[in-house]
Amino acid sequence: IDRVLGRIQEESDRAELGGGIKRIDAQHAKGKLLARERIELLLDEGSFREYDMLVTHRCQDFNVEKIPGDGVVTGHGTINGKLVFVFSQDSTVNGGSLSEAHAEKICKIMDKAMLVGAPVIGLNDSGGARIQEGIASLAGYAEVFQRNVMASGVIPQISVIMGPCAGGAVYSPAITDYIFMVKDTSYLFVTGPDVVKSVTNQEISQEGLGGAKVHTTKSGVAHLAFDNDIECLRKVREFVTLLPSNPNETAIREPFDSPSREDEVLDDIIPDDPNKPYDMKEVIERITDEGEFFEIQPDFAKNIIVGYGRMEGRTVGFVANQPKELAGCLDIDASVKAARFVRFCDCFNIPIVTLVDVPGFLPGTNQEHNGIIRHGAKLLYAYAEATVPKISIITRKAYGGAYDVMSSKHLRGDTNYSWPTGQVAVMGSKGAVEIIFRGKGDIKEQEQIYNDKFANPLPAARRGFIDDIIPPRLTRQYICEDLEMLKNKKLSNPAKKHGNIVL
Ligand code: COA
Repeated sequence: IDRVLGRIQEESDRAELGGGIKRIDAQHAKGKLLARERIELLLDEGSFREYDMLVTHRCQDFNVEKIPGDGVVTGHGTINGKLVFVFSQDSTVNGGSLSEAHAEKICKIMDKAMLVGAPVIGLNDSGGARIQEGIASLAGYAEVFQRNVMASGVIPQISVIMGPCAGGAVYSPAITDYIFMVKDTSYLFVTGPDVVKSVTNQEISQEGLGGAKVHTTKSGVAHLAFDNDIECLRKVREFVTLLPSNPNETAIREPFDSPSREDEVLDDIIPDDPNKPYDMKEVIERITDEGEFFEIQPDFAKNIIVGYGRMEGRTVGFVANQPKELAGCLDIDASVKAARFVRFCDCFNIPIVTLVDVPGFLPGTNQEHNGIIRHGAKLLYAYAEATVPKISIITRKAYGGAYDVMSSKHLRGDTNYSWPTGQVAVMGSKGAVEIIFRGKGDIKEQEQIYNDKFANPLPAARRGFIDDIIPPRLTRQYICEDLEMLKNKKLSNPAKKHGNIVL
């Protein structure tokens, strides 16, 4: 037995050492942590239980180096006491490339996570498919993709990109619910700079093609970017703590803030001039527990705000138009960003609070030619399909089709409120009278009449399209009461194989 124990120890030590001291130093020199160091920071101290540490690849060709663990560390542990499954690719072992055995290890923890209803967190740092294995590694990727799809809506899946992630490798993170990236050391692209150069003759760096900045500001592929591994993993911990682990769990913690806390500042936050902006993020932070708000995609499609806050300890998804950007109009990016957020909340039974100040969809050929009709429909579809508690507050404008879209009563909104400053109308009064009174009489006078009629919440209140006109200072109280009232809400959609969301 001593001999066996000795051999086990030897192989475990080799697995722990990964690709060896030289490659470890190179990884550290790039400002990157090792696969195991990352897991240590991610999980509660001492909670990690590793699987398959001694697994090796089966490739007979090209003398591929055989290191136990085969370039990925997998297992489970806890984050603030919550069970999570994790894989962490080790780029010191064959570049963290994905072999058949490496893929099997990832699939094993994904299967377990689905079985018990716990999130999967993938720490990606890989040179892609193991080139020497050829088709076996491609098969491995597909096995992971299939599981990503099956797990979608069953357990939260979070991808953290902490090094290269290129080619087919990008599609696993793409299917997962959230992608976090580390600035300057991580990148995601389908084809790298060399291929781009040979096909399009365009010179571009890895960072410029698919770095954290590009994906969190331009493409919308990633949700958050962080300065380094440590900050990134700390935020993943915070994020996972906010989320339910599966649709049957409510993410709740001991509340510290009073549900009836009033905020007088909200009474005066809307400027007198209807064309003047204000910061909707401030409104959200004045409503949530302890003023905390975990924003998702803060630098992409800033005209809509999405993210999580707690109300009386319960996690709630917030969607809000941001009047400071594009006057809060809905455009293609904003619609897609919010639609995906609403659908995640609905999958995991997270109630949605919507704050509305929307002058309409963004006009222009750019938007029309790129399919605002198709993309705007995604948000409409997502809200209409959602069966979670839906509460909305119109703070100012709720114009046109965008009024309908933003969690209106007609899309099964549970409670719909307006502040006294709310205006529900087909469009702004100036545009409206220019159309209906073109060339007829005194436009200014008609504008005044239209304004008196529609630039207030009364017509919507008289029809019951909003349930009440509430003092802004009491917004938090109303939301907390409603979330309590709605906590046992049961609503289901007609039985079907699945809907056909407008893609
Ligand atoms: N398959 C097998 N081995 C791989 C690999 C892959 N896909 N990607 C990297 N490696 C190995 C390298 O051969 C090298 O081995 P060594 O340490 O024994 O010399 C090691 O991993 C590190 O790679 P290196 O290129 O030195 O690291 P880098 O940080 O300079 O570059 C990449 C990283 C990912 C940009 C680069 O390795 C690369 O372009 N890899 C291929 C990506 C690809 O096209 N993958 C297939 C498509 S899915």
